Order: sequence, then C-alpha cells, then structure tokens
Amino acid sequence: MLEYLLIWGVIMFKNLKILDEKDKRLRQVSKEVTFPLSKEDKETIKDAMEYLKYSQIDEYAKKYDLRAGWGMSAIQIGVLKRWFVIVEEQEDGTFKNYFFANPKIISSSTEKIYVEQGEGCLSVNREVVGIIPRYARVTVEARDMDGNKFTLRLREDLAICVQHEMDHLDGILFIDRIDKKNPFKDAELYRAI
Ligand code: NI
Repeated sequence: MLEYLLIWGVIMFKNLKILDEKDKRLRQVSKEVTFPLSKEDKETIKDAMEYLKYSQIDEYAKKYDLRAGWGMSAIQIGVLKRWFVIVEEQEDGTFKNYFFANPKIISSSTEKIYVEQGEGCLSVNREVVGIIPRYARVTVEARDMDGNKFTLRLREDLAICVQHEMDHLDGILFIDRIDKKNPFKDAELYRAI
C-alpha cells in the first residue's frame, strides 16, 4: 500500500495503517500522554485528522478505498497513548477537528442512547449488529495539544463517539459491549439515534 496518497500529484495525506480487530495491540491499555508533545506526535495527530477528513469525502474515499471514519484513537495506528481525534463535518461542508488527551468523563446523563444502525470502527472491517447503550450527554475533561485542560459538554452522536474512542484507550472494542446471545437486549430501555 502507498504510504502517501496523492491528489492531483500533490501529497495530501498519509495513508495510515490502521490496526485490525485481531491485532492484540488494540487490547492494551494506553498510557497517559505527557506534555509537551513531540514534533512526531503532532505530525501523527495531524495525519490522523487529515485521514479522517478525506475518508468522509466520497470522492477520495472511493478513489483510495477508505472506510469513512469520524474518530481515531492513537492505539488504532499502533501508538500506545491516551489520545484520540474526532473529525466532524459541519453543515457548511467544512470539517471540525477535536483532539482529546487523557480524557475523563466528569459527568453524564442518566439517559442512554444507541446508534440504531450499529456503531462502526475503522478497526472492525465487518458489519456487526447489536446495541451498545451509551450516555446521551457527557461532560469530558481532557487536555488539548498544548497540554491545557479543557472541559467540553457533548451530546448525541458526538457523545457516543467520545465514549467509543475512550473505550479504545482501555483496550475495549465496541463489539465487546454487544450482548452476544441477544444483540438487541433491552433496546426498549434506550433511545435510538
Ligand atoms: Ni473504533
């Protein structure tokens, strides 16, 4: 596979090697991020954000056979550190980047929700059905790329995304959270989104 993907002959983004669910590294508990970040760390974070952005643009996703992804945790590219990125397309077609290091959920809603179509993961290259109850709203405390602490309140799909990525930092995949015998167990207790 090419290391860099070219658009009109210009290097646009790094073709990251994403670990597959069978890779044991995904089962490790990642280590706290220390600051300041190295130049290499910052490059990797930028590469992850660019990769996610292009994966969400149909033209490039098709051209380079990328599966669309919103979130990526460091461990998914083999970096055992507690950070992840989320790239969210905005209504005007631009993309908003989020970076979280050493995240903690400091408060959460009692209401739980789940993704009706099922969650997806760049490390799980197959369709898995079943529900995973997640908090509908969470307040997360984390550090930004400069090491500054921030808190962010998230809801609905972004809240789910953060909970999914935080699981990666603890070596958990979404498929682990689905009841194997009854994938739609207790669905009526939660709100589908
Ligand atoms: Ni994932």
